[in-house]
Amino acid sequence: MSDKHVDEVSGVETTGHEWDGIRELNNPMPRWWVWTFYATILWAVGYAIAYPSIPLLTNATNGLLGFSSRADLTQEVETARSTQTVYLDQIAAKTVGEIDADANLRQFAISGGASAFKVNCAPCHGSGAAGGPGFPNLNDDDWLWGGDLESIQKTIAHGVRFDGDGDTHVSEMPAFADVLDAAQTRNVAAYVWSLTKTPSDTEMASAGKQAFLDNCAACHGEDGKGNVDMGAPNLADAIWLKGEGEEAIGRQISAPKHGMMPAWSARLGETTVKELTVFVHSLGGGK
Ligand code: HEC
Ligand code: HEC
Repeated sequence: MSDKHVDEVSGVETTGHEWDGIRELNNPMPRWWVWTFYATILWAVGYAIAYPSIPLLTNATNGLLGFSSRADLTQEVETARSTQTVYLDQIAAKTVGEIDADANLRQFAISGGASAFKVNCAPCHGSGAAGGPGFPNLNDDDWLWGGDLESIQKTIAHGVRFDGDGDTHVSEMPAFADVLDAAQTRNVAAYVWSLTKTPSDTEMASAGKQAFLDNCAACHGEDGKGNVDMGAPNLADAIWLKGEGEEAIGRQISAPKHGMMPAWSARLGETTVKELTVFVHSLGGGK
């Protein structure tokens, strides 16, 4: 072309556009860049045809490949559910002992039990199952009603002193306000305290021993170590559910507080109760 004009400073051809003597240099994009750009446009068109992409009023175009993230998710949930059903059926059919002995089943039961525990049990026993005043710690090996799998299962399934369940644990501590006078009560309390700590008055404590054997040993044992058939706590392990110290013990003797726990088998079903049992048993104190 005859009217080609080349800029003197840069040596680059100009486009022929000129504004008040200023010319536009002709610097086209590199080839590779232009082709990549066309390729992305092609890709976008292909993608829009193959996959769900273009928004319509209520949904989007389906795409020729029929891909759907929702269908994928449903599929995954379906798979997960059927694996779960396999485990849950086995748990339903087996005893807690058999579940605990099967490594896979045990693992499955523990994770199911742990999540059921968070929802149903943590409000009373604490999220780490460490309990609190009136609510027993389930991590230690101090058990009111027994720490083997069957005992734990019975306690969870039927509760403690729970009116709505005919198989619930019923035994409770009687009040001794009419049996022991104030002095005798103080003596017995001092004696109980002396099982693990130094009593305020050793004479009172030794005076209380006979009254303990006469009135308390039937449930708490002659050595004070408790009895899981009665739910009578071990008084010789320095773990206090109702209150610590001679005064608190004295109050428990004259006007006992009773623990109550709801029954869970009707509410959660046997399978979940079994999972909870294996979970609680696994916390560290299981026998
Ligand atoms: C019929 C059985 C029975 C007899 C008898 C009995 N207890 Fe108890 N005791 C229990 C039970 C069950 C509990 C748990 C409290 C409850 O929920 O009733 C308990 C709880 C206690 C506690 C609270 C323990 C803690 O961890 O805080 C003390 C202390 C205690 N008893 C002392 C005595 C003394 C002292 C006597 C005798 C004067 C006595 N008990 C007689 C059954 C009995
Ligand atoms: C409303 C409060 C409450 C809730 C909720 C509760 N518990 Fe309890 N639980 C108690 C009390 C109180 C005791 C102690 C009963 C007694 O004094 O004998 C107890 C006792 C127990 C024991 C017996 C401990 C032992 O030393 O023998 C186990 C096991 C247990 N709970 C597990 C559970 C599980 C699992 C759940 C959830 C499904 C649960 N609890 C929910 C209040 C509760």
